[in-house]
This record gives sequence, C-alpha cells and structure tokens, in this order.
Amino acid sequence: MEGVSTTGEIERVTSYEKVKGFWTISRERFMEDVLIDDQSLMFNLKGKGLVIVSGCAHAGIVNTAAHSKKVMGADKVYALVGGFHLAGADKKRIRLTADDLLKVDPEFIYPCHCTGRKASRILKKAFGDRCETLKTGDAIEL
Ligand SMILES: [Fe+2]
Repeated sequence: MEGVSTTGEIERVTSYEKVKGFWTISRERFMEDVLIDDQSLMFNLKGKGLVIVSGCAHAGIVNTAAHSKKVMGADKVYALVGGFHLAGADKKRIRLTADDLLKVDPEFIYPCHCTGRKASRILKKAFGDRCETLKTGDAIEL
C-alpha cells in the first residue's frame, strides 16, 4: 500500500544498541542470535510525518528510526510507537538512547512492551508531554 511499508532488515549503526541474551542453534551449535530479522512497520501520515511502529526494536530504536527515515525518504518522524527494547538496559544506554531520540525529534513517542519502567521514566522526563507510555488495551489517535 502506498505510504506503508516494513523496514526490512534494519541497518545497525549506533555503538550502544547491542542485542544480548538471545541464542539460536546453527550448525548444531549454540550461537548468539542478534535477531537480524527484527523489523518495524512504517507509514506516512499526511501532513504530519512518518509513524514508526516497532515490534520489539531489537535492532535498537534509534537505528530503527534512522533506517525508517532512509527507506521512506522522510525528513520528519511524527511518532514512534512500540517496544523500545530497553528493559534491563543500563542507565548509560538508556541515556544515550534518550539523547539520540531527542535529536530524531519526533512529535510523540509511545513506549510500551519491552521498553521497561526505568527507560520509560527517563524517556518521560526527556520528552515530557510528548511521551505517553502505553499498556495493553490502550488506543492512540494520530
Ligand atoms: Fe523487545
């Protein structure tokens, strides 16, 4: 559908958005799984900008935003919605993520799922009214 796409495999550019703790079996051996198949849904909202819905953001939410803009040829990210995969992340990574997301400058962010409470608190503090944490059953109007 025009203006709607999935990211496909997301380019991993940031130094701090590393996937840890997942395993797979390859050639009969346990191997660390970097979940290269992680992807997000993107759509252009007319007159507003790009909306990115991450499933779990294993590739990193900052990488996801940058890759999405590139794939869609978009200048403006309007909203980021979904799991930012920061549950269990240390404060340094969360801080770096918040700083880089501020540079992405979305109008709104809606962290949920695997974002984690600590990261959600820090993101709320960084984005103020532009950040709303979501829980199961919530609805948002864009
Ligand atoms: Fe996740």
